[in-house]
This record gives sequence, C-alpha cells and structure tokens, in this order.
Amino acid sequence: MAARRLVVAMPKGGSGKTATSVAVAWGLQRAGRRVLLVDLDPQGNATAALGVEAAPGAYGVLELLLRPELPFEPRRVADTLDVVPACPWAVGVDMEVQRANQLTGPVAVREALARVEGAYDFIICDCAPSLGPVTYNALAAGPILAPVETTRLAVSVIPELGRVVQQLRRGVAPDATVLAYLPTRFVEEQTESREALRTLEGLAGDRVLRTRIPLATAIARSLAEGVPLYDPRYRPSKGPPAYLAALDELLPLLEARHG
Ligand SMILES: Nc1ncnc2c1ncn2[C@@H]1O[C@H](COP(=O)(O)OP(=O)(O)OP(=O)(O)O)[C@@H](O)[C@H]1O
Ligand SMILES: [Mg+2]
Repeated sequence: MAARRLVVAMPKGGSGKTATSVAVAWGLQRAGRRVLLVDLDPQGNATAALGVEAAPGAYGVLELLLRPELPFEPRRVADTLDVVPACPWAVGVDMEVQRANQLTGPVAVREALARVEGAYDFIICDCAPSLGPVTYNALAAGPILAPVETTRLAVSVIPELGRVVQQLRRGVAPDATVLAYLPTRFVEEQTESREALRTLEGLAGDRVLRTRIPLATAIARSLAEGVPLYDPRYRPSKGPPAYLAALDELLPLLEARHG
C-alpha cells in the first residue's frame, strides 16, 4: 500500500517545521510505523537532529531527486525510522530540479517518493523556509502540514502559502492542499501569542489543529541533542505530550484523505 505522505512546510524561518517533522517522525516510529523522513532543507537541521551526518558522496536528497538510476540508500536512524539526509554542499539541487521541471512541471519530489514509498507507512518531508524549486515540488507531493509560530509576523505569511497552493491546484497538483495548520511556540500568557492564534483561526478556520505546541525548552533540546522528544529525560515538559496530541489529530485527517 502507498505510504501516507506529509509535507511539513511554511515559508517563514523558525516556524517549527523541523521540530514538527522530527517529533512526528519519532511519534510514528514509537507506534511501530515504518517512517521515512526526507530532509529537503539544505540547512540539514532534521538530518542533524536525527544524529545523522550528511557527507558528500553519501546518498542524500540530491540522489533521491535527481539520480533515480541509483539504488535507494536511506540512512537507518532507529528501528523503522530512516532518513534521506540533506545535501548542504550541493548548491545546485534547486537549479537542477528547476531544469528538470521545465519539461515535466514540479513533479520531481512526487515521483521520487512514489519510487520508494512501498517500504514505508509514512513519508515526512521537512521543507526549507524558502519557496524555491524543491519546496515548490514538495508542496505538490502530498498534503501539507503548516506549523505556524504564534506571532503576528509568522501569521502574516499564511496568505502567501495559500496563494502558492492555489497556483499548484490550478496546474499540476489539483489536490494540493494544506491539510492542517499547527500553532507552535505558543505562550498562553502572552497577548501576542493569543492574538496571533485568533488571527490564524480567522484565516484558516477548522483547519487549525486544536493542539497548540507550547514554547518548551525540551523541544529545542531534543533537536540539539539528537534525542527523541519522547525520551524520559524530557518527561516533565509539556512539549512531548503536545506533539503526541497533534499526531492524534493528524492521523485521522491523513487516513481520511487516503480513503
Ligand atoms: N515549541 C518550541 N519550543 C521551543 N523551542 C522550539 C520550539 N519549536 C522549535 N524550537 C526551536 O526554535 C528553533 C527553530 O525551530 P525549527 O528549526 O523547528 O524551525 P524551522 O521552521 O524548521 O526553521 P527553518 O525555517 O530555519 O528550517 C530551533 O532552534 C528549535 O530547536
Ligand atoms: Mg527547519
């Protein structure tokens, strides 16, 4: 059966895309699901957070997207969790993908995932904050989960994401869609957080998940330390249960989409 796909994207730096991709990946792995995380961001933050070192010459996103003739060689992170590392040194990936797209439209990510999805229950793509060719391809490759930092500035970017998705819907990806918005770095006591959440709900209505990911040191620590967020050391934090609650909301949405 085809894997469920989740494209974690938001064209704004520091929205919690990587934190969300990695927390969702570990959450699914913990439940015994076979998970692939594809690190589409040349910053390589998800790769690093999974304790994998991206190395020139090793199989990575460049090979996945642009060298379909090579055998698929993801890196094993844990039992049932693999990653395709970012290629931080390969400045030409965006350009090469753009060139390939001139013939086909933005289908490189979608086609690459289709080639490898048989081995997985879920494929999660962590996107870069830019809306370059690789991100644009990713938005056309599966339902989008958009983490939104609960600040005025971050929420103001939502219409931009909406416009790009509309453009894809009119073209090669009629089913491109933002499946859900996930409020992140939420601080109940802060007026700006509460107001940003209200604005987000005004823009996106019931597509905003009920779970709010709090500002929680454990989330940043688990990324920096390369340790799953659900490790006992982070237990007192509100971060891990919040991400598990978000996953509980997301799973039925993904299943419903898959039919
Ligand atoms: N809920 C949170 N609480 C505290 N720190 C967080 C939270 N979510 C993310 N962070 C931290 O904030 C920073 C930005 O988060 P993250 O890397 O997930 O954002 P991003 O959207 O992937 O950024 P980029 O656009 O650069 O890829 C990181 O240092 C991360 O550890
Ligand atoms: Mg990131």
